[in-house]
Amino acid sequence: MTSLGKKYVMAVTGLILVGFVIGHMIGNLQMFLHPDWINAYAYKLQNLPYGLLWVVRLVLFAAVVAHIVTALLLVIENRRARPRGYSVDKPIQATFASRTMRYSGVILLAFIVFHILHFTTQHVHPEFRDLYRPLEGVQTMHGAYDLLEATGKNNVHDVYSMVAIGFSPQYWYVSLFYVIAMGLLFLHLSHGISSMFQSIGLRNHTWRVRLDRAALVISIALFIGFASIPVAGLLGILPYQDMVQGAHHMHPAP
Ligand code: HEM
Repeated sequence: MTSLGKKYVMAVTGLILVGFVIGHMIGNLQMFLHPDWINAYAYKLQNLPYGLLWVVRLVLFAAVVAHIVTALLLVIENRRARPRGYSVDKPIQATFASRTMRYSGVILLAFIVFHILHFTTQHVHPEFRDLYRPLEGVQTMHGAYDLLEATGKNNVHDVYSMVAIGFSPQYWYVSLFYVIAMGLLFLHLSHGISSMFQSIGLRNHTWRVRLDRAALVISIALFIGFASIPVAGLLGILPYQDMVQGAHHMHPAP
């Protein structure tokens, strides 16, 4: 693969991943509404028809693998191309974010592995698997009652309590880790999104300035949107947090 080809792979896989994080952040902000919102939403996603959930997971997994392998290939290629014997090999115009892409990337990968064990497979807190709650009939965008009707039950996995307990003050170090990881996500994306635009061919100066600014705005919005949840959990100010404290095993699994 040519080095331009590799940069395209970085840009396209990066775009898929940025698209996912924007959607995921918006979905997560439902933590600031009634629990029915995020619970009905999660229920809908987990019961998507035609195995679509696994299609999405597969696409995301393939994008992450391709993004990392191509990044490694680019590092090797750059190392080969670098003239030997220079005592000073620091790029002159590189920003802090661009010089630290590989470190922020590696820590983000570790974060994603932890995050999946935390909230998706729930290996970190197996008791999260027993959190169920009936939908209370709050009008959300997600319906979910149509799907539930077919099961004859009204209990759904209580994602709201899972997240509120996962970020409760007793696990302050978990919230701290999330906020640090979101800081690294900000760093990674503030450079990543702007180089994505460049790889796709938007190199015109005026546009570069504008797109760099857009990259910064998107990265800041993602940082605030994501970090607000562990921070609110840590401060105990999620709207229904008092209701879930000590409420483990409140509703038995169906
Ligand atoms: C504070 C920020 C975040 C919160 C509160 C959060 C919340 C969640 C929750 C609750 C789930 C599990 C949903 C379920 O099983 O019902 C989940 C899954 C996931 N999250 Fe996050 N998330 C956050 C940040 C992130 C970030 C920054 C990334 C990526 C860089 C990410 C990537 C994922 C992935 C890949 C999954 C697994 C999806 C699946 O296959 O089921 N999350 N998140």
